[in-house]
Amino acid sequence: MKDILINHLSFGYTPERLILDDIDLAVDTGSFVCLLGPSGCGKSTFLRLMAGLEHPTKGDIVMEGRRIEKPGLDRGMVFQDYGLFPWMTAGENITLALEQRFPEAGKKRWKETALEKLADVGLEESVFDKLPKELSGGMKQRCAIARSFAVDPPVLLMDEPFGALDAVTRARLQDLVLELWARTEPKKTVFFVTHDVDEALLLASRILVFGQSPSHIIYDCTIPPEKRPTRETQFDDVENLKLRNTLIHHINRDVNRRIA
Ligand SMILES: Nc1ncnc2c1ncn2[C@@H]1O[C@H](COP(=O)(O)OP(=O)(O)OP(=O)(O)O)[C@@H](O)[C@H]1O
Ligand SMILES: [Mg+2]
Repeated sequence: MKDILINHLSFGYTPERLILDDIDLAVDTGSFVCLLGPSGCGKSTFLRLMAGLEHPTKGDIVMEGRRIEKPGLDRGMVFQDYGLFPWMTAGENITLALEQRFPEAGKKRWKETALEKLADVGLEESVFDKLPKELSGGMKQRCAIARSFAVDPPVLLMDEPFGALDAVTRARLQDLVLELWARTEPKKTVFFVTHDVDEALLLASRILVFGQSPSHIIYDCTIPPEKRPTRETQFDDVENLKLRNTLIHHINRDVNRRIA
C-alpha cells in the first residue's frame, strides 16, 4: 500500500527563493526511507513539511488519503537535539506525550508504558526521575526514541538523530532503532535524514538523494531486505560497496556541478 503520496511538492520560505522544487514521491507503508543530500539542500525543510510545521507553496502531501495540513499525533518527530523539555524529568517528558496520545489511559498506565519504553531502549528505571541535564547525549537520545515509540505514531520523522553522538553510541542506537522498527507491527514508516552514507545503507529499505536547492530527488533506490548489509558485512559486500560509491557519486555530482 502507498501510505504517503507527495504530489508536485514545491516550497520556499520566501517567494523569492524556492528550496524544494516539484517533488513527486510515493512511499509504501513500513518503509525505512533514508534521505541524503548536501547541507542546505532542504532535507530538514522536507521533514518539517511532512510534520505539517510548514505548508507547501505548491502541491501537497497526502497520508492515508488525507492531506497534511498541520502537526498530528500520527507523525512523531525525533530531532538531533533530542527535543526533550529541559524542565521536566525524562519520565515526565514521556508521560506528557502519552497523556496527549492516550488521554483515557490514566496516570498509572502512562507511567507503566513510559517505564516499559525506557527499558526497551536499555535505560534503567532510575532514569525516569532524572532531568535531561543529568543524562548523557546518548541517554537523552534514547529517551527521545522511547518517547516516539511510546506514542506509537505510524510515521516517524527523524532528523539526523545520531549526528551529535560518538561512534559507539551511534552504532548502538542504529541497531536499536532498526530492531524497534523491525519488531513493531504494523511497521512504522520512517523518514530518516543523515549525512552518513554508511548509516543510510545499514538502516534503509529505500534511499533518496536530494540535489542542491532548489532541490528535487536526484537518486532513488530500494534495497530489498536480503540485500541489506549488516555491520559485519558492510565493507566486504561488493554490491553494497557499489551502491555506496553510486550514492557518494550522486551527492558529490550535484555539488560539483554547482561549484563549476
Ligand atoms: N526558517 C527558515 N527561514 C528561512 N530560510 C530557512 C529556514 N530554515 C531553513 N532555511 C533555508 O532553507 C534551506 C534548506 O535548509 P534545511 O535546513 O532544510 O537544509 P538541510 O538539507 O536540512 O541542511 P543540513 O544538512 O545542513 O541540515 C537553507 O538555505 C536554509 O538557509
Ligand atoms: Mg537539516
